Amino acid sequence: MTAMLITAQGLDFTVDGDGLIRREGRVVFVPGLVPGDTAEIEIIADKKNYLLGRIKKIIEPSPDRVPPACRHFGVCGGCSLQHYAYSAQLRWKENFVAQSLRRLAGLTVPLSPIVPSEAVWAYRNKAQLPFGSGGTVGFFQMNSHSVVDLQECPIQHADFWRIAEGFRRLAREKKIPIYNEKTHRGILRYLVIRRSDYLREILVGLVVNCRTFGLRPEIKRLVEEINKKLLTYKIVSVVANINQKKTNKILDEKIENILGSGFITEKIGGFLYKVSLNTFWQVNTAQAEKAYQQIKAWCDMPDVNILDAYCGVGTIALSVAERSAQVLGVEEVPQSVKDARRNAENNGVANVRFIQGKVERQSLAALGSPRLIIVDPPRRGLDPELISKILQIKPEKIIYLSCNPASLARDLKLLSVDYQVREIIPYDFFPQTTHVETLVLLQN
Ligand SMILES: C[S@@+](CC[C@H](N)C(=O)[O-])C[C@H]1O[C@@H](n2cnc3c(N)ncnc32)[C@H](O)[C@@H]1O
Repeated sequence: MTAMLITAQGLDFTVDGDGLIRREGRVVFVPGLVPGDTAEIEIIADKKNYLLGRIKKIIEPSPDRVPPACRHFGVCGGCSLQHYAYSAQLRWKENFVAQSLRRLAGLTVPLSPIVPSEAVWAYRNKAQLPFGSGGTVGFFQMNSHSVVDLQECPIQHADFWRIAEGFRRLAREKKIPIYNEKTHRGILRYLVIRRSDYLREILVGLVVNCRTFGLRPEIKRLVEEINKKLLTYKIVSVVANINQKKTNKILDEKIENILGSGFITEKIGGFLYKVSLNTFWQVNTAQAEKAYQQIKAWCDMPDVNILDAYCGVGTIALSVAERSAQVLGVEEVPQSVKDARRNAENNGVANVRFIQGKVERQSLAALGSPRLIIVDPPRRGLDPELISKILQIKPEKIIYLSCNPASLARDLKLLSVDYQVREIIPYDFFPQTTHVETLVLLQN
């Protein structure tokens, strides 16, 4: 198509954070445009279901437009809303949840105000940084798999970049071959960093495509050197994650300890947790704690059995245990179940039990037909088999923590045959991105 120039005003964002305008009834995606911007836009492609535009000139910036904090913004695919004021991000997220629930589930229940994140920078407790050719370390570029060699990223703590710098140097000095996704050759795939704020500890994971990873003395020396440069945290453990699969999944199961115990200790809701490399752990600890507190407040049916479906390492199960007869956690990742059991024991919580397996495959009747069910599924939402099992045993309450408004809306629609949505609270776990967490209380 021949390029066409139009003047238009930004209306919204797509889920990827591209600006959105309308042109003769069709949507146009315009990267970099913010709602409220008036801009001259060149239409550059017709993609059947939408048009693609490019900003030629911003005529009148939106009052919500702010300068991005990071020099890599717009190229790096790590975050998408740095050019939008935080108060406006919160309004957009609230509206996004409300619209998704109205459009996809016909729900008109008013939302509680979104719970903002106190930290809007350096809030992430985990970074998964791919190694790129030539020993670069950073994030993938937007819509591509080439690595932006990052020296900084304001949504991660500055210490993470000192660590990345050290391991980048190691890769170059020791000439460790970088993994190539296309040929499946090379060794270094990802550098994963996790931090705990309670003990200010850091766990480093090297994801490698080889049967075993050596370099123990070199890594020990490197860690001593890096630790002297860190501002707040201290590396206490380094592990290798052996991932020899042709897959986009970052981590595989096998872990080799290189230094330390293979975990860090974090505190949430008064309980201590051992966090290892390949178990799920919410990336914004302070926000997760607020959501867990709300879940606990809704668990106000003393002496009932609670099911914590998709329980991870048991964070929700432990926080609600004192408000129930027994909590049963179900989780499919064996390491998470092992950690959950250890976490319960270490914290002296006796009335919790964990089962390994897919929750949709369990017989809820055999699990004692719990009268309160908490679900915290991955982005794809609840398995339809689980929904039909829940509808068969009809617990009085369902508490649903979701990281994806679209799958949440789909599931709420299915559950609404027997349940009413009583409360909806969005939480901002992910400032500077379009992601939003939503907590919902359902009652029959
Ligand atoms: C969003 S996380 C929530 C974990 C935990 N509630 C927390 O806040 O840390 C989802 C968890 O569900 C697990 N999972 C995914 N599919 C599952 C399934 N079909 N059955 C049981 N667990 C599953 C994942 O391994 C992950 O630990």
